Amino acid sequence: MQKMILIIGACGQIGTELTLALREKFGNDRVVASDIREGNESLMASGPFEILDATNYQAIENVIMHYEIDEVYLMAAMLSATAEKFPMRAWDLNMNSLFNVLNLAKDKKISKIFWPSSIAVFGPNTPKEDTPQHTIMEPSTVYGISKQSGERWCSYYFKKYGVDVRSVRYPGLISWKTLPGGGTTDYAIDIYHSALAGKKFTCFLGEQTKLPMMYMDDAIRATIDIMESDADNIKERSSYNLAAMSFTPAEIAQSIQKHIPDFEIDYEPDFRQAIADSWPSSIDDTEAQKDWNWKAQFTLEQTTVEMLENLKN
Ligand SMILES: NC(=O)c1ccc[n+]([C@@H]2O[C@H](COP(=O)([O-])OP(=O)(O)OC[C@H]3O[C@@H](n4cnc5c(N)ncnc54)[C@H](O)[C@@H]3O)[C@@H](O)[C@H]2O)c1
Repeated sequence: MQKMILIIGACGQIGTELTLALREKFGNDRVVASDIREGNESLMASGPFEILDATNYQAIENVIMHYEIDEVYLMAAMLSATAEKFPMRAWDLNMNSLFNVLNLAKDKKISKIFWPSSIAVFGPNTPKEDTPQHTIMEPSTVYGISKQSGERWCSYYFKKYGVDVRSVRYPGLISWKTLPGGGTTDYAIDIYHSALAGKKFTCFLGEQTKLPMMYMDDAIRATIDIMESDADNIKERSSYNLAAMSFTPAEIAQSIQKHIPDFEIDYEPDFRQAIADSWPSSIDDTEAQKDWNWKAQFTLEQTTVEMLENLKN
């Protein structure tokens, strides 16, 4: 029998595209989307949907039993910039949602979990360039602390209870289908919207702030690839480094100016600058390449072409 998949937090920036990609791959009826709010039309119209709170264990269990779910992708979380404003709510959502799915897998009610981590697990004392898989991790943000703790718990549940949980540390993700949800790299999406609207863009990060980024198509492919890989290939049971490109606000502006020559940018760094300053500039993802054949496809130039073309339509 074919497997059934549940996505929790399916209406967000990643969840929306992940749901559509999984429905395309496995069939619309085999992928149940869920969130605390309804999503966009293509998501709502293409398959089953449930209103579901990721912090409510019983409600998740009910949906899992009802649809006979095998695999869960947990995408609900409070992101970096918002979490700095609501630390306790972020901790509650990010940790309890993870414990709920880990415990459901421990009790054999589901057989596999995807849970995303982030480059936010690293901190100001981590080597900034080509940050290795295993290195100093002293995150200084609420979000980063929750992701790093989450990684340790994933590793613990795998070792102690044999829970098949898989994870990648997403860099900042760039996409056009759904708006971003309150992260420190959101500027790299907003900038395309401004450029196409003919507006000057004021960036909330400084000109030279270089961060690891990835186009959404690469992120979705990585997510499905790691989940479809043989369990024996997944050597890293905390979370894998994942990389595609790194750039500064000045560099993304230049790549837009190749297509829209009169596009203008200025810089007014706010509280998000401190978050960005604590993160790596570039990531070494050799382990993911070695273990499950990961390789990014989209460069900054290709991302700019995709973003401008798709947002124009
Ligand atoms: N977008 C990025 O650049 C990025 C980078 C690194 C890691 N991640 C991680 O990927 C995951 C998904 O991120 P995203 O960008 O899609 O976030 P998002 O904010 O766009 O989406 C999160 C979704 O979760 C839902 N949600 C919030 N509280 C919920 C609850 N209690 N129960 C159920 N759903 C709830 C929201 O309604 C939203 O639709 C998160 O774990 C995030 O930390 C994202």
